[in-house]
This record gives sequence, C-alpha cells and structure tokens, in this order.
Amino acid sequence: MPTQRETQPARTTAAPGTSGGRVLLAYFSRAGENYYDGGRVRLDVGNTEVLAGMIGSLIACDVHRIDAEEPYPDNYDATVARNVQEQNANARPAIAKPLPSIEKYDTVLLASGIWNVRAPMIMTTFVESHDFTGKTIHPITTHAMSGLGTTEKDYATSSPGAIIGEGLAVRGERVRDSGQDIESWLRRTRLLQG
Ligand SMILES: Cc1cc2nc3c(=O)[nH]c(=O)nc-3n(C[C@H](O)[C@H](O)[C@H](O)COP(=O)(O)O)c2cc1C
Repeated sequence: MPTQRETQPARTTAAPGTSGGRVLLAYFSRAGENYYDGGRVRLDVGNTEVLAGMIGSLIACDVHRIDAEEPYPDNYDATVARNVQEQNANARPAIAKPLPSIEKYDTVLLASGIWNVRAPMIMTTFVESHDFTGKTIHPITTHAMSGLGTTEKDYATSSPGAIIGEGLAVRGERVRDSGQDIESWLRRTRLLQG
C-alpha cells in the first residue's frame, strides 16, 4: 500500500493574518503504521501533514510537501530500521521533485515528525539544498515525547546565516486538539497578527 501521495506543487492559502514577509511552510510527513500512545495506529494522513493544514488555514503561506524519492515503508518497524541506517550513515535521502528555490521567502517553517530524537534525515537534505542566509527558520515538530528534539541545533548547523526563531512542538497523538496552542504560537512569533 502506498504511504505517500504524489508531490503536490506549493499552494498559497488565503488567511486572515499575515507576517508581513513571505512565508514558506515546508513539511515532511509519513502516513501508514505509526506509534500512538504506546501502541500503534494506521494514519491515512501523517500527523505533520494535519498540522501543516491547520497552520496553512491560519496564515498566508505557501505550503510545500517534501516527498522521498524512495518512499518510506508503511510498516513502522521497517521505517525505524531504515531511519537508524540513515542516521548512522549521515545520509541525505533524495527528494522527489525538489522545490527549485526558496529565494522569494523571508521566513521558512520547517515541519516534520521526530525520528530518533531529530528530524528525519531528508529534512537535512532539504535544508542543505537551499541558501537560508538572512532568512528566519522556525522548526516545527510533531512527536511522541521528544518535543523539538535536536532540530534547532541541527537546522542552525545546516543553514549558516539563518536566524533560528522559536519552534513549535505538538504531540502527534494530539494534533487535531492543538488549535489553541498553534494559534498562540503563531501570534507569539508574529506569524499571525490581529
Ligand atoms: C521512525 C520513527 C522514529 C520515531 N522516533 C521518535 C522519537 O525519537 N521521539 C518521539 O518523540 N517520537 C518519535 N516517533 C514518533 C513520531 O515523531 C510522531 O508519531 C510524529 O507525529 C510522526 O509524524 P508524521 O506522522 O507527520 O510522520 C518516531 C516515529 C517514527 C516513524
């Protein structure tokens, strides 16, 4: 069973608030069998994709989904095993249909699940493919217990010259109930005004 849909082009969402600069929300999310409150669940839509949709409906931004050229398995344990290999090898998994440029954006929201206490290695592929000099990055994660993990440090290392702004960490199991927390964060970071 496929776990990821075809890469979609970035789309612009209309929204009530605006940060003043142009915002890109780039996310990686994996549907399929996943961890859920100590057990397992089958997700038709990955947790981060749900979160990205919620953010995209609140602010004006382009939303871009990062897809792996070689999709991750539907099976949770197989995904854990592949991720361990990729982390140990410091791999840069290839991105399908990569975004050509982030030049027009001032702020980039980088969203993903947390895999073994950091963002999946494909997020590093993405960050290293672009020049973030002078841009603000906000790390966003969905997770089981690790919060932002090492994303702030990792993104800072991979994007010299970027400003790392406040991150947002949401528990994957609770994404759909987190509207209030998301909105508060968007207001704190001035991504949503008014
Ligand atoms: C391979 C793998 C490793 C994971 N490792 C962690 C971890 O170290 N810490 C954590 O809090 N959650 C971990 N999780 C749980 C995910 O971060 C969480 O379910 C997240 O919401 C998944 O996002 P997604 O559905 O958008 O891919 C892991 C999940 C997977 C599939």
